[in-house]
Amino acid sequence: MRTFVVILALALAAASANLIPQPGFPDGRIINGYEATKGEAPYIVSLQSTSSSHFCAGSLIDNVTILTAAHCLTNKEGQAVCGAHDRTNQQDVQIRKFTNAQYVIHEKYGGGVGPNDIGLILLNEEDAFDLNAVSRDGSNPVAAVGLPSKTFEGTGDGCLYGWGRDNSGLLPTNLQKLDANVIGYTECKNALPVTSSIAETNVCTHTSGKADGACNGDSGGPLVIKSEYVDTIIGIVSWGYTPCASTTYPSVYTGVASFLPWIAENRKAK
Ligand SMILES: *[C@@H]1O[C@H](CO)[C@@H](O)[C@H](O)[C@H]1NC(C)=O
Repeated sequence: MRTFVVILALALAAASANLIPQPGFPDGRIINGYEATKGEAPYIVSLQSTSSSHFCAGSLIDNVTILTAAHCLTNKEGQAVCGAHDRTNQQDVQIRKFTNAQYVIHEKYGGGVGPNDIGLILLNEEDAFDLNAVSRDGSNPVAAVGLPSKTFEGTGDGCLYGWGRDNSGLLPTNLQKLDANVIGYTECKNALPVTSSIAETNVCTHTSGKADGACNGDSGGPLVIKSEYVDTIIGIVSWGYTPCASTTYPSVYTGVASFLPWIAENRKAK
């Protein structure tokens, strides 16, 4: 039995009069980001409710496996949408219902802001995404992202993708991206309040003194290292300090390299 019911007390205090930054899940804005090129992130998946409202992102690691944050896997209904850029354009889009999918949540995930915020959506073989589909421009609209090597050192130039949601709950029409500076555990720990539940399995992005390092992107979405061939996913958007726009703390991601054995054990396609 790999399905766990996680009840999340989503205490995302509506940034009221309380201006003390609190740890929380990203509210899904890519602050200071810019529009991605169509087809630039063919592995990004929009996780949507039954009413087609985007609530989290994920990444395809093979044609039946979506890698996301554990805290995104609370609703067994809805659908996964791949190949989208302009959300209003259905061309090249592939949609799979969650009805027959299996959710795997890391057994050590505590249900809130904290470590082991990683999960998988396993589709049935008959619901597999078509990675061989070809767009009009000759590219593949849907593709798997690469996994990092064990030796990934956790620093460098990263890139974050997402549609995000603005304060009114609306989504930008086109996929957004943010160039993000990836920092290591020690640097991240030092930049966060001492009470933070940061673990060595996390990676962070941070640009000192800038709000765009904090609380960016869609929960569950990919932080990647770009490459000419296959991008590598090094982080899954996990948490940050809210209110996003006014804090300059690092954004915290689940470090994918730390969970390679877990992913290998729990994915279907070996
Ligand atoms: C999914 O991938 C598996 C393994 O690579 C392959 O055998 C299968 O045909 C693929 N399914 C689709 C629909 O492309």
